[in-house]
Amino acid sequence: MSTRTLFLLPGDGIGPEAMAEVVKIIDHMNTDAAAGFVTDTGLVGGSAYDAHGAAISDADMAKAMAADAVLFGAVGGPKWDDVPYEARPEAGLLRLRKDMQLFANLRPAICYPALSAASSLKPELVEGLDILIVRELTGGVYFGEPKEIIDLGNGQKRGIDTQVYDTYEIERIAGVAFELARTRSNRVCSMEKRNVMKSGVLWNQVVTATHKDKYSDVQLDHMLADAGGMQLVRQPKQFDVIVTDNLFGDMLSDVASMLTGSLGMLPSASLGAPDATTGKRKAMYEPVHGSAPDIAGRGIANPIAMIASFAMCLRYSFNMIAEANRLEKAIANVLDQGIRTGDIMAPGARQVGTTEMGDAILAEFKALA
Ligand code: NAI
Ligand code: MG
Repeated sequence: MSTRTLFLLPGDGIGPEAMAEVVKIIDHMNTDAAAGFVTDTGLVGGSAYDAHGAAISDADMAKAMAADAVLFGAVGGPKWDDVPYEARPEAGLLRLRKDMQLFANLRPAICYPALSAASSLKPELVEGLDILIVRELTGGVYFGEPKEIIDLGNGQKRGIDTQVYDTYEIERIAGVAFELARTRSNRVCSMEKRNVMKSGVLWNQVVTATHKDKYSDVQLDHMLADAGGMQLVRQPKQFDVIVTDNLFGDMLSDVASMLTGSLGMLPSASLGAPDATTGKRKAMYEPVHGSAPDIAGRGIANPIAMIASFAMCLRYSFNMIAEANRLEKAIANVLDQGIRTGDIMAPGARQVGTTEMGDAILAEFKALA
């Protein structure tokens, strides 16, 4: 039997509370289906700083690099507001992304039928919504040089950020988007601003060429990113996979996420390049939400974002498609049964805590086997 290595970084605040519910599912899959998951757990964020003065230790970083996949909870909290900048909790997350070269950030926006009323849009616009935003994560304006504030000496200063994309960066993110589209509805919409940005012109050219070269079976459309934002709130169901740069992807994925309800529902995946010998991609899976210090330690956090992140892990790191589908179906069924944590509570529903929600999803996951 093959082993599948998972490195768990629960982090701070509600991170460990949500991760505990995933561990139950992993344990069940190991005993019931001999899934062969081998887990190890490390420290990240404020809890890592308390233990060894850095947001992630070199030893834990090495374990993250070696694992088939990393599951990440959340980091941060007021307790660490005054730690040195290099050791602040987010530094752990940034180091993981950088050292593992996680250039592709996958943010699904799925509207569970039971929650369509919680959307900021009319239910009929979001019912059945299932889109995937693929955001470039390691390039673009957040990293381009020069990046500085210059003193112009006349009482004025100049802030500079630079949008930089090289061909290979666009090719590899486009490749991820096209490959994912093939496993879904086979459509990609690429978004940039080629009308006003040189990097947008190149983005458009390279996506077009990559499509022609290797992925001509996938339907490709292009949209200017501002128009794309408009279409996302006007008629979101027209999209399948959206591929875009770091900055536009940051904004568009946040917009898309609010079509689906609560922060407590949103999973994400970050993927690296395939290994030259094994073909396996480095990968990290994490909820979109933070450590929620306002509710941490009270057993009321919604674990669904973390559990749905594990479903993405099953799908993208282990190709366990049936199990991923079954876990997502279990989440949908539990919501249909009217079982809710406080953040997604609705009239007539039954309010439960983190553990009960995790137990209900695991029970449904078993029942669907
Ligand atoms: P947050 O996502 O932690 O919380 C925002 C609001 O949503 C809070 O009211 C919280 O109670 C609620 N919420 C979030 N997740 C929930 C869940 N699973 N169930 C129920 N309610 C949930 O964002 P906030 O408050 O801006 O940041 C808190 C801390 O988390 C800060 O230290 C911040 O730096 C950090 N953070 C970490 C992230 C990460 O680890 N990836 C991402 C965002 C923030
Ligand atoms: Mg954002």
